[in-house]
Amino acid sequence: MTPRPANLLDEIVRSPFARLAFLLEGLAPGAAPIDVSLGEPKGLVPDFLGPTLQEHLREFGRYPPIKGIAPLREAVAAWIGRRYPILKGRIDAESHILPLNGSREGLFSAIFPACARKPALERPVVLIPNPFYQAYGAAAAAAGVTPVFLPATAETEFLPKLDAIDASLFQRTVAFYLCSPSNPQGAVAGRAFLARAIALARRFDFMLFADECYSEIYNDAPPAGALETAYGETQSFANVVAFNSLSKRSGLPGLRSGFVAGDPDFIASFLRFRNVACPQVPLPVQHVSVKAWSEELHVEEGRALYRQNFAIADAILGARYGYRKPQGSFFLWLNMKAFGGGERAATTLWKGCGVRVLPGAYLAQAGPDGTNPGTDYIRVALVHDADTTREALTRIVATLG
Ligand SMILES: Cc1ncc(COP(=O)(O)O)c(C=O)c1O
Repeated sequence: MTPRPANLLDEIVRSPFARLAFLLEGLAPGAAPIDVSLGEPKGLVPDFLGPTLQEHLREFGRYPPIKGIAPLREAVAAWIGRRYPILKGRIDAESHILPLNGSREGLFSAIFPACARKPALERPVVLIPNPFYQAYGAAAAAAGVTPVFLPATAETEFLPKLDAIDASLFQRTVAFYLCSPSNPQGAVAGRAFLARAIALARRFDFMLFADECYSEIYNDAPPAGALETAYGETQSFANVVAFNSLSKRSGLPGLRSGFVAGDPDFIASFLRFRNVACPQVPLPVQHVSVKAWSEELHVEEGRALYRQNFAIADAILGARYGYRKPQGSFFLWLNMKAFGGGERAATTLWKGCGVRVLPGAYLAQAGPDGTNPGTDYIRVALVHDADTTREALTRIVATLG
């Protein structure tokens, strides 16, 4: 957990998928390829959105307002109230919500107003669980803030250990990215964990950026949310914003539609920043998004598909590769130590059976001791239909044993 140097563009901002393409370049797949490297829901685009898109097609001819249309903010507020009953009627569509072009650009750009909140801070840091979603590292690098990577490994139940962090580090913190359910491990931060993170954010006055884009992809119980926890504890959203999107929930990664919600002071300064620096959400996309946030049947259908895929993984993998069913998200995080580590296993699988998996090291950063918590792992996305998922996992077991 030692802070790292500030010039990080080359070191940290590297696309895992570009690295995978480089790793496998020139290698022939051993069978017809199946790509399970990308967390892109397949074949779940809900048909009922078509007429809305058609109805609003001509609005592609207008620049959209950065703040979004009121019906979208109201639909999101209503969804939050249904998903987290304690928040029903507590989210103000006017001051608590901004639309995003998918959560990624918001997670990236939010670092700037977070830094602006604490202009006097010397040597500011941003806290990032390790492994992590690469946009957090890109944000740190772009803003010139030192990322501090917090191990989130099997030993810490795949969540960062908050008690291991020194108060002097929290004093220098501008933001803490917390992903729950997490990518790639599928760990879920419970209410107590979230409450502790929120209390720390308030005590040391940094922003908690809760990345909840997998909040609707779960196996048993719906995961707790940062906003419901914040409100439940103190009836306030101070120092907390949650990011979510339709990409995973509604199977619409290509729509590029999400939102950020929470702390009204932060939302106000983020809005001012976004008004000159960030992409607006196209108006037809906003109208389609209203419909998608207002319907849950298609979300349940998506969840049913992922549950079926996890049942297939249970049956085929058993106890192999340290497999355990994650609480949330749609990834397998499999230990490949016995097969020479994640990179070696990715190459073996591609050459042996045409299954394209992502080496875990590409989703993580080496710590000061040189240890990368992803080195032993591969990530497998269960985003295909059941037959394709079964075929991919069967091939993996046949190739690796
Ligand atoms: C952890 C995490 N956060 C954010 C995103 C961004 O998703 P989107 O921009 O499509 O909402 C992803 C996408 O894969 C992700 O895995």
